[in-house]
Amino acid sequence: MQPNARRALTHLHKEILACTRCPLSRTRVTAVPGEGPADAEIMFVGEAPGRQEDAEGRPFVGAAGRLLGELLALTGLRRDRVYITNVVKSRPTDRTDGSNRAPHPEEVAACAPWLDQQLAIIQPRLIVTLGAYALNTFLPGKKVSKVHGRVFRSNGRTILPLFHPAAALYGLRREILHRDFRRVQEVFAEIGLRQ
Ligand code: URA
Repeated sequence: MQPNARRALTHLHKEILACTRCPLSRTRVTAVPGEGPADAEIMFVGEAPGRQEDAEGRPFVGAAGRLLGELLALTGLRRDRVYITNVVKSRPTDRTDGSNRAPHPEEVAACAPWLDQQLAIIQPRLIVTLGAYALNTFLPGKKVSKVHGRVFRSNGRTILPLFHPAAALYGLRREILHRDFRRVQEVFAEIGLRQ
C-alpha cells in the first residue's frame, strides 16, 4: 500500500460526508462514501445508496446488500477484503413518495470526482461494476445484459461488468448472478497470473 493511502482515504471519506455538490445533500440522512481497505485489490461499484444505506452510512446493507454478501461468499471473497462503493454517494429519493429512485445524470456528474479520487488512492487491480450505472461510468454505451461476465481494459483499468444483485429481487435468475460472481475469482486469478 502507498504509505499514506489509508490516511488519504479517511480524509476523502470525510470530504464526501460533508459534500454539498448536488441537491441530494439536502435530502439524505448521511452520505455513504464506501468501505473497505485502502489497499483492496478489488473494488465493487454499485449505483447509489438506498434507504438502509442512507440510515447507516454504509454501502450495500439493505436487501441488495444481503444478496451481495451471499454472492461474495460464493466467490470465496471476504467483504472486509474488498472495497465497496457507489457511483453516487447520497441517496436519490423520489420527491412524491420518498422511495428510492435512480440517480439523475447531473447527480452522477456531480459525484464523479469522488469515485475518481477513490480509484486514484486505492488503485484496485480489478473493478467490478454492479448494474448499468456503474457500467456506464467506466464503459459508456455498453449494455449490462450483453457484456456481463466479460473482461474489459479501459484507461489502464481492468473492468468486469456484472448484473446488479438487486436484479435478482426483480426476477433475474439466481444462477445468472451466481455465474457472474464466480467470474470475479476467475478473472482475478487470470490477472494474477499475467503479472
Ligand atoms: N444498491 C446500490 O447500488 N448500492 C447500495 O449501496 C445499495 C443498494
